[in-house]
Amino acid sequence: MNAYSIFLFFHIVGALGLFVALGLEWTGLWQLRNSSTPEHLLAWMVILKNTRKFGLASMLATVISGIYLMVTAWGAAPWLIVTLGALVLVIAITQALTAPQMTVVGQALAAGKGTLSETFHSLANHPILFVSIQTRVAIALGIVLLKVAKPDFGGSLLTIAVVILLGIASVIPLLRHSHRQQMLTH
Ligand code: HEM
Repeated sequence: MNAYSIFLFFHIVGALGLFVALGLEWTGLWQLRNSSTPEHLLAWMVILKNTRKFGLASMLATVISGIYLMVTAWGAAPWLIVTLGALVLVIAITQALTAPQMTVVGQALAAGKGTLSETFHSLANHPILFVSIQTRVAIALGIVLLKVAKPDFGGSLLTIAVVILLGIASVIPLLRHSHRQQMLTH
């Protein structure tokens, strides 16, 4: 066992942690969407808050160990440059789409004073939360494909472009369902 395999181990553990955090966030968003009691909801808001911290720690472990692997063995390989760009995109999507929406969800919950208002439900059901999480999961899976296939620059960019489109398209069934629900209730 050498330093490279030890860092690769921590890198893969970090990557697994990232997928656990993405899975918990996705589950939490479904709980938010379907919650009927503030108590149940508050429990999941706490889980989502801790998941963000766990996700950040996993990403740090992945990036630090990844940089070691990159510097010691691969240099500026195209699939690594695109990986770094894709990771910045994952962070940007979280900050631009999820963070602001979760802030207003939290405010609506607090304003409800123990009841779940119509405003809260419409904010918690906003498809932007699912566009964000499902696109980030798709990008993370695309990064794993880059690691296994190690394509050239064009192939790496195409891989990430395709997974982004698949991530966004994966929300269409949810949008259709929400639209049908709206038609039924209005
Ligand atoms: C979401 C982020 C990431 C995930 C999910 C991820 C996942 C993985 C996985 C599963 C492997 C093992 C592949 C194999 O052994 O065939 C791997 C290897 C590697 N990763 Fe990452 N990684 C991520 C980010 C990064 C970053 C940011 C860097 C560089 C700064 C990086 C650099 C590397 C390197 C150099 C290898 C070794 C490839 C090899 O030895 O075959 N990774 N990564």
